[in-house]
Amino acid sequence: KIYTASTTAPVNIAVIKYWGKRDTKLNLPTNSSLSVTLSQSDLRTHTSAACSSIFTENRLYLNREPQDVSGARQQACFRELRVLRAALEAADPTLPKLSTYNVHIVSENNFPTAAGLASSAAGFAALVRALADLYCLQNTPTELSRIARQGSGSACRSLFGGYVAWEQGHAADGSDSLAVQVAPASHWPGMRAAILVVSAAKKDVSSTSGMQATVATSGLFRHRAEVVVPARMEAMKAAIQKRNFEAFAELTMADSNQFHAVCLDTLPPIFYLNDVSRAAIRVVEEINRVAGKSIAAYTFDAGPNCVIYYEQENEAAILGVLKPYTSGVSGWGDRRETVHARIPE
Ligand code: DP6
Repeated sequence: KIYTASTTAPVNIAVIKYWGKRDTKLNLPTNSSLSVTLSQSDLRTHTSAACSSIFTENRLYLNREPQDVSGARQQACFRELRVLRAALEAADPTLPKLSTYNVHIVSENNFPTAAGLASSAAGFAALVRALADLYCLQNTPTELSRIARQGSGSACRSLFGGYVAWEQGHAADGSDSLAVQVAPASHWPGMRAAILVVSAAKKDVSSTSGMQATVATSGLFRHRAEVVVPARMEAMKAAIQKRNFEAFAELTMADSNQFHAVCLDTLPPIFYLNDVSRAAIRVVEEINRVAGKSIAAYTFDAGPNCVIYYEQENEAAILGVLKPYTSGVSGWGDRRETVHARIPE
């Protein structure tokens, strides 16, 4: 008999960035972070998990390519989820012993992998969700976030929709480094995100190695992690609770800019933004100047692609201004639309 489960997990884009680890094995961060989960209709990972006593090894395919399952991140997720399943089996001996079977995992992204579009976040969140469903685990998303985090830090935030905080925690074993929902998507129905795909190429410096270099060499980073981010987390939560877009936008842009400043303060410096990214920043700054207040917010992860947050009521104005800089809109989501627009390089 083959047991199966399928799921999808969405991409999340941080507005307060995770950058720096205090434990590289458990992906324990040096600061808390906060993200918005995007609509699944555009950016998502679809994952199917199967297990059976007849499977002779663990297997993992991403976009039809076989992947290394022996990696520490995958192994940590498999191991932790098996432990939870084994506990269920110990409590109820009639349950099939799925915890002793090998698993086959098949994942598909509907967006470029490793181009700084948070593919590892959706990927590991979907992996954990699919195995948790396969094993019929009753754990809450926050409990599962402890496991997804070990796959990729940012993945812990993709187990929730809406506005999600990853509280850094202080325990050495990571038991309190967990994701919690700050507000559901329905709390702010007008929120929208547009993605300007500047480049779908694989990023130069992976976030994992980039943040290690930053922790080792940047002085500015300490100040960010210890002083700036704790205050910003509180201000961002308040902005979300009050649906204060101006405050949300200003904190988002400031945090993206500081994250890239910290990358520049790393030795050797890390450049994720390119000329097109900087052009997008100038356009958004100009939109806000003309509006007399911040009606749009840009943010960039570990790559040149630009995510712009705005409210529905300003959509026509904002996308209208951005349109000449793009080579067309290739897709629309539903409620919380994501636009894939391409800015010619
Ligand atoms: C810039 O979660 O990809 O997107 O934990 O090493 O897998 P690992 O790193 P990852 O880093 C994401 C960094 C970021 C900011 C963020 O998403 O908060």
